[in-house]
Amino acid sequence: MTALSSGSSRPLRGRCRVPGDKSISHRALILGALAVGRTRIRNLLEGDDVLRTGAALKALGARIERDGKDTWSVQGVGTGGLVEPAEVLDFGNSGTGARLLMGAVATHPIVAFFTGDESLRRRPMARIIEPLTRTGARFVARDGGRLPLAVVGAPSPMPIAYTLPVPSAQVKSAVLLAGLNAPGETTVIEPIATRDHTENMLRHFGASVEVVATETGGKRITLVGQPELKPADLTVPGDPSSAAFPVVAALLRPGSQITIEGVGINPLRAGLYRTLAEMGARIAFGKERIAGGERVADVKVAAGALHGIEVPAARAPSMIDEYPVLAVAAAFAKGRTVMHGLGELRVKESDRLAAIADGLQSCGVTVAVAGDTLTVDGKGAPPLGGARVAARLDHRIAMAFLVLGGAARKPVRIDDGETIATSFPGFVDLMNRLGARIAEAKR
Ligand code: S3P
Repeated sequence: MTALSSGSSRPLRGRCRVPGDKSISHRALILGALAVGRTRIRNLLEGDDVLRTGAALKALGARIERDGKDTWSVQGVGTGGLVEPAEVLDFGNSGTGARLLMGAVATHPIVAFFTGDESLRRRPMARIIEPLTRTGARFVARDGGRLPLAVVGAPSPMPIAYTLPVPSAQVKSAVLLAGLNAPGETTVIEPIATRDHTENMLRHFGASVEVVATETGGKRITLVGQPELKPADLTVPGDPSSAAFPVVAALLRPGSQITIEGVGINPLRAGLYRTLAEMGARIAFGKERIAGGERVADVKVAAGALHGIEVPAARAPSMIDEYPVLAVAAAFAKGRTVMHGLGELRVKESDRLAAIADGLQSCGVTVAVAGDTLTVDGKGAPPLGGARVAARLDHRIAMAFLVLGGAARKPVRIDDGETIATSFPGFVDLMNRLGARIAEAKR
């Protein structure tokens, strides 16, 4: 493991781009693999998580190649055309890759074995197994529905109607991807709206997807099964969840001003930007446009004082991956920030509620967790820092505490820099080019 240290940053300045969106990259590969013909994808995230999904899809029969510097091509096998993989599919750290492909595999008459790294093997899969079993698939999993597990795909798949018990785009997407190879209509009802990249992309590839608002503010999504998906080239927008790290770093370091070009600003992903604006941040979206069915903009941010706020539970799905870095921003803000409805953070790449609270405490910040609410008391001044923080195989914990170290009074160290490459290859170089001082730390 490579330890990294982040010390007092210069003011961050300049323009940059962040790597392609992780959620959209997974889906582009999967739908490309289920289309008939060749799809070209530009700006695919070349992070470990997405490359694992690519490797799994190859084992399931698709042809996937990197054509040029910025282009990948996927030769799909068509809906229903996945073949039985000869080897165990290893998804590394990626919950999205594992769960979405369990959905696709569940309605193919094949057997596939799924595993992942130590973090992924701890994460709950029962939430996926439960609905997919209703399509006729069978699962053999470890205690508590954990990986490694075997999927025995349904020989005669059935379409299902399913109401999400947790607001999870991964569960919704797994059910919809299973529905692709079931006859008739598959319906997912989500009481709280979650990221809609799967729905957008299914349409982009020619599937019929109907979305209607429910009376309670949620959505009912209906997919017509067994479509012939048409190859559909696309450019993946910059990942708003990755852009969040340089954005918060610039907000916290006085004198900073940066622009990040081509960032996805789908409203179901942009909760952090709204929340930071409520805290007093100066953030502007320029050159708004649509690319590959998604809203994109250049995000401009300048340093400035922040103040504490209440962040409602209803906003959590639109910023679920951003709480580590939001909590860091809250540690510099003046007053109390209360973040509600964070139960799902306990089952991410690490128990993020615990990781955030322990890390902030060790950096001299007053923080409390009560149930699924996180409270951070900021003093309107840089916290002490000076701690060694365990990344816990969690890329976003690693990056959040490197951001904290850049603006705290003393440098912060994280024990594992490699985990960052799951979602943000080139993070350290990009941050340092803007003015950060992140370096390998001696053990
Ligand atoms: C994702 C959905 C979210 C998110 C994850 C990516 C997706 O997970 O945390 O990083 O691509 O669908 P849940 O669906 O479990 O909330």
